[in-house]
Amino acid sequence: MPLRRRFYTLLISTSLLALAANATEPAATAATQITDAQISKARTAVNALQTELQTALQNAMRDGGPIAAIEVCQLQALPITASISEQHKLYIRRTALKLRNPANAPDDWEAQQLADFAARAERGESLATMEAVSRADGEFRYMKAIPTGAACTGCHGTQIAEPLANALQERYPADQATGFAAGDLRGAFSVRIPIADTL
Ligand code: HEC
Repeated sequence: MPLRRRFYTLLISTSLLALAANATEPAATAATQITDAQISKARTAVNALQTELQTALQNAMRDGGPIAAIEVCQLQALPITASISEQHKLYIRRTALKLRNPANAPDDWEAQQLADFAARAERGESLATMEAVSRADGEFRYMKAIPTGAACTGCHGTQIAEPLANALQERYPADQATGFAAGDLRGAFSVRIPIADTL
């Protein structure tokens, strides 16, 4: 499994570095290790956010159709994301290289992982299980790829029907999040946990 391999490589190399840098202080090793507990905490929050966003989207589509659903996404996506952060006592968000809402812009590490996800997908790895982890600068970080599903292309695909396309253009004049086909990398969930909270 690629993640496990990457994870152990990272773990071993960071442990060796820590040992080499400060052999008399075992805490230095602990402070650089990525644990299964951190990964599962991040995965749990991602599953919760995914479920809540999907439910909100499905309910909005059912109750008011796609145009009403755009408004629900615009009004609810960020507050739902913030409430999952609070409930799970970590920082979670969605991000992407091609954005609809500029508030979701990736930082350097996230942009690098998104590019890496695209390269890994190109090499044949499944987006459904694609993850990345890191532990540096006082925090544990985790990302999980978001594949484009058939249901997403109505609002993120190549041929967005009117009046939906117009409604999107009105709300998101700088929208870059179109042109996706089912199976493309749409973006990623991104989690940050301060190390002091996870030891
Ligand atoms: C009804 C239209 C609609 C559908 C269907 C839809 N989205 Fe979106 N999507 C939006 C809107 C509107 C936003 C901007 C939300 C905001 O303002 O925070 C968005 C934002 C996003 C973002 C955040 C990054 C960004 O570009 O701002 C991701 C990731 C995303 N959508 C993935 C998906 C996936 C995956 C699906 C299918 C499961 C999907 N969307 C289906 C309308 C839609």
